[in-house]
Amino acid sequence: MTHANTPWMIGFDIKKDTISLGIPHVLFGAEDKRDEIFTEAGLRYICIGMKGSDKHDAVDRRHVARRIIELAKKSGVKHFAISVSSFEKHIGPLDRMLIEFARANYEHVAHKTKPKDGWDFVEKITLIDDSIEWNQATINAAILRSGILAQGLGLARDLANAPTNYMSPQDFVSRIFKETQSPDVRIKPMYLGEDDLQTEKLEGILAVGKGSVNPPRLLILRYLQGPAEQKPILLVGKGIVFDDGGVNLKTDPTDMHMDKSGAAMVAAAVITVARLKIERNIIALIPLAENRASGRSYRQNDIITIGDKTVEIGNTDAEGRLVLADALAYGQKRWVPDYVITVATLTGAAHIALGGTCSALFVHDTSFGVSFAKDLIEIGERTGDRLWRLPLEKRHAAQIKGKHADLKNIGSLGRYGGAITAAAFLQQFVDEKVDWAHIDMAPRMTPIEGDHLASGATGEPMCLLVALAEEL
Ligand code: BES
Ligand code: ZN
Ligand code: ZN
Repeated sequence: MTHANTPWMIGFDIKKDTISLGIPHVLFGAEDKRDEIFTEAGLRYICIGMKGSDKHDAVDRRHVARRIIELAKKSGVKHFAISVSSFEKHIGPLDRMLIEFARANYEHVAHKTKPKDGWDFVEKITLIDDSIEWNQATINAAILRSGILAQGLGLARDLANAPTNYMSPQDFVSRIFKETQSPDVRIKPMYLGEDDLQTEKLEGILAVGKGSVNPPRLLILRYLQGPAEQKPILLVGKGIVFDDGGVNLKTDPTDMHMDKSGAAMVAAAVITVARLKIERNIIALIPLAENRASGRSYRQNDIITIGDKTVEIGNTDAEGRLVLADALAYGQKRWVPDYVITVATLTGAAHIALGGTCSALFVHDTSFGVSFAKDLIEIGERTGDRLWRLPLEKRHAAQIKGKHADLKNIGSLGRYGGAITAAAFLQQFVDEKVDWAHIDMAPRMTPIEGDHLASGATGEPMCLLVALAEEL
């Protein structure tokens, strides 16, 4: 398979031993070693320093995998070998490591001219089959699966990273239609345009999209490969292709082309689920709009109707909850799901609260909700999408009551608990008997120092969403 549009994709082969191959081997160095490439007795080594490895947690071990790729790319190594037993010892299970290799190899190059001597991506890794637990068949299965996940992660990150002049709401729709055309992707895509949004009275999406010359859309992906009687999982992803705040103009909207990251993760996850042929019913709703200040924008104190509730606008920059609420109300009425997951770069407040190492998780404050949260956190640890649960109590709902409408789109305590009041707003549109999780991924929209990832989208929590389709 060629990957003209996916130059970061890594090819793998498996060998019993590679002494004679003449390619660099990965070596896990002692405590005092730094990450470096060196030659000894005519053999080249990619040496990864394991200082403090006795205290390594799961995240550090993932980073070890990323550091291998980082060093190879920096040193122009396109092909290297690594023994399966050695990384099991130092990094963890093979499938996890393969995903981290892929995650670290990715860069957003869609708009860059290919350099004369080519990209510096790692092209091939030879796995030395010397493990007791992993035989050729299991290694092959892991390679196949991680390749599909890597492709999904690439798509997710390309969508999230795409500048808005290349990614209007309609561009997003068209791209996903193209991705779902292949016969091995059994997804039925459709979308609602402006007239349909009017007919369905989706005023949240319409109001937010009004200020832009690029009209809003609601993208709907139906993947129905589970038993006919199985209720679907409803995934809802925030797709704001640019967020300048609207009339409540942001002072600096840098990176707000990435406010469609929730949409990107959800769309890529469903496509990945389809490629993996997971037997599950899934409905994905992706509201797409551009939040812009103009003479046509929605305004403070406007009152709109979402589902069966009226909402007064306190701040036009709290737009994500409006488009998500519309999708939630619409989706639950039409498809009666048993799980609902919202994924969004919803609040800067989540970032302030958590400081960039994990996404914020919210669930209903019930015993079911709490055990659902535990499951999600545990799955996220496995997929590399760390979540931290924040409180969402019934008393928080009092903070988003409207004065002249049922609800208001900002909390009465101003910035205090901003991530929580945003979640409390969404909760008003979710059936309390449905297992609901809201992932505010703003803290993980882009990497932090030490993540060993290219600038732009991290790809979180796409793999978690795929795992949910398999495990829920
Ligand atoms: N898209 C932003 C949140 C955001 C900011 C995500 C930075 C990622 C990085 C969101 O629409 C927003 O502006 N939220 C406001 C809400 C406030 C006006 C109640 C926020 O968090 O400040
Ligand atoms: Zn905003
Ligand atoms: Zn936003």
